Amino acid sequence: MAQNFDRLTAKPTSRRFRWIAPAAGDQAADIEIRKAYGRSDVVIEIGCGVGWHSITYSRNHPEKLVIAIERTRDKFSRFKSRILSNSPMPNLIPVHGDALRLLPPHLEHLSIESVYILYPNPEPKAKAQRWIHMPFMDLLSKALSPTGRVVFATNVQNYADEILATAPLRGWNVSEDSRINITDNPDFQPRTHFERKYFLRGETLRHIELKKKGPA
Ligand SMILES: C[S@@+](CC[C@H](N)C(=O)[O-])C[C@H]1O[C@@H](n2cnc3c(N)ncnc32)[C@H](O)[C@@H]1O
Repeated sequence: MAQNFDRLTAKPTSRRFRWIAPAAGDQAADIEIRKAYGRSDVVIEIGCGVGWHSITYSRNHPEKLVIAIERTRDKFSRFKSRILSNSPMPNLIPVHGDALRLLPPHLEHLSIESVYILYPNPEPKAKAQRWIHMPFMDLLSKALSPTGRVVFATNVQNYADEILATAPLRGWNVSEDSRINITDNPDFQPRTHFERKYFLRGETLRHIELKKKGPA
């Protein structure tokens, strides 16, 4: 039987995972992302941090292919450790890198069901770096399946309000805007570390879903 090697440590591994080494960079990531071509069940998480949501989601949806992207080396490394301590998840593709650089060459080949952007940095002083204003969102829109959606979660109310105000001008319909807090939703189960922190602090969490507008 062929021996698998961990791409980060170059050590033999019996795991079924193949890692995308940061140094090997884009080429390895490209190979992994190409596995999603032609599939209709692709879910992408951008900025997955240490991977709590990606791992839980992959485990609960074995029929879907989840590409989880994190650009910070330290967080990706903790994501990797968490995967190793779980049972194998062949439907989870962990990618270390910048989604803005890695995804665009692939988007015309993908039919994406959901994109999760959970607790993005609010970038209060850099409008161009807030996701809803990025040209990248136009590319993403073209790569969504007809029923595909982009899910944002944030605890920053003016960040959420800006998404709601800007989305319709950028070709999106707002299909959901939920508010969650510990008083009204004591049974809510946080999906990420940031979400848990803000929820326990009593902050109001916003869960927003966008779908692309159909032809006029
Ligand atoms: C505030 S953290 C939230 C992490 C996680 N989603 C959570 O809720 O616990 C935002 C994360 O997005 C990552 N990130 C931001 N822009 C990114 C990009 N273009 N590609 C990949 N990761 C990105 C950051 O490195 C950071 O880990």
